[in-house]
Amino acid sequence: MKVLGIETSCDETAVAIVDDAHRIHANLVLSQISEHSVFGGVVPEIAARAHMDHLDKLIRGALDDAGMACADLDGIAATCGPGLIGGVMVGMMAGKALALAHGKPFIAVNHLEAHALTPRLTDRIDFPYLLLLVSGGHTQILMVHDVGRYELWGSTMDDALGECFDKSAKLMGLPFPGGPHLEQAARLCSDPDAAIQRFPLPAPLKGRPGCDFSFSGLKTAIRAHVDKLPPGPLHMEDVSMLACAFEQTICTVVTDRCRHALEKFTEKSDRGITPKLVVSGGVAANLFLRAALKDLTKACNADFIAPPVALCADNGAMIAWTGIERLRRQMTDNLNIAARPRWPLDPEAGQGFKSA
Ligand code: KG4
Ligand code: ZN
Repeated sequence: MKVLGIETSCDETAVAIVDDAHRIHANLVLSQISEHSVFGGVVPEIAARAHMDHLDKLIRGALDDAGMACADLDGIAATCGPGLIGGVMVGMMAGKALALAHGKPFIAVNHLEAHALTPRLTDRIDFPYLLLLVSGGHTQILMVHDVGRYELWGSTMDDALGECFDKSAKLMGLPFPGGPHLEQAARLCSDPDAAIQRFPLPAPLKGRPGCDFSFSGLKTAIRAHVDKLPPGPLHMEDVSMLACAFEQTICTVVTDRCRHALEKFTEKSDRGITPKLVVSGGVAANLFLRAALKDLTKACNADFIAPPVALCADNGAMIAWTGIERLRRQMTDNLNIAARPRWPLDPEAGQGFKSA
């Protein structure tokens, strides 16, 4: 069974072809970062137009890479939300048109579900597992029971974690998107203890019950530290110390919230089941965070699964794989399905604190 997946919900135009034996036949991702960086963030109108300009070539390229024609496919999957609605509609309409023209089933994919199911593509893990989803738009802890069955255990009350990285990096004078630059700057700091002493930061919600997050206070504290530094461009040494203090604080907060989730997992599961924690989303590329989560899971006798960095960030393979998971359960969609800018994975919990 082979499915072509299309992803256009943010600033990556991506197309992939994946089969049910977990093989990725093609995986093309075109980043629009250079088109948005001058504006310091993603501009929805520019993103939608760029998807329009490039999507057909990427679909052709993916078929060529895989050595396949549309006739060889068993289904077409496209992100239908949540995300920037203009971009979502470009990918969704292209997917529907392909499905109609070639008489193939169409699978309307929830972008968050695609992040959630990625470890089943890469690491073949079984349900249930805990998912920490950390990206530019989302910060959630979800209990993943099955395809289409999710329980939201925690979400952010304000900024998403990627947003907090990007805004804090901007305050430090680092380029967009700030997350990877901030991580690089933190690596240059040779004395992490001195960094956190010089730049103390709050650890929002640490020690409180539950699995929710809050990051806006952290960004405000970074601003206060930056304001006290000499005016003009910041010295790299100051930036690296501040970035290192920030990374340590993020790791403290995120592991505290995940510890609660792992405890809840153990309480609710049958005895003898080893809890599993998966990290996904763009921020899952952060090696400080990966190391901290690895240590946490070791201490909690849990398994830790982190898909390869390229498959944690937005990509087409996760959409195609979700198409496979749904197609083999006959969970296909009508071509009149609408794009959804908001589409929570756990309808009972609504959007959590922040729209998803
Ligand atoms: O999942 P993603 O590619 O797009 C969505 O937001 O859906 O995530 C992008 C986010 C950005 O905020 C970016 O700064 C952050 O992931 N990011 C990182 C790193 N790489 C990407 N944040 C921290 N450390 C990184 N290495
Ligand atoms: Zn994403």
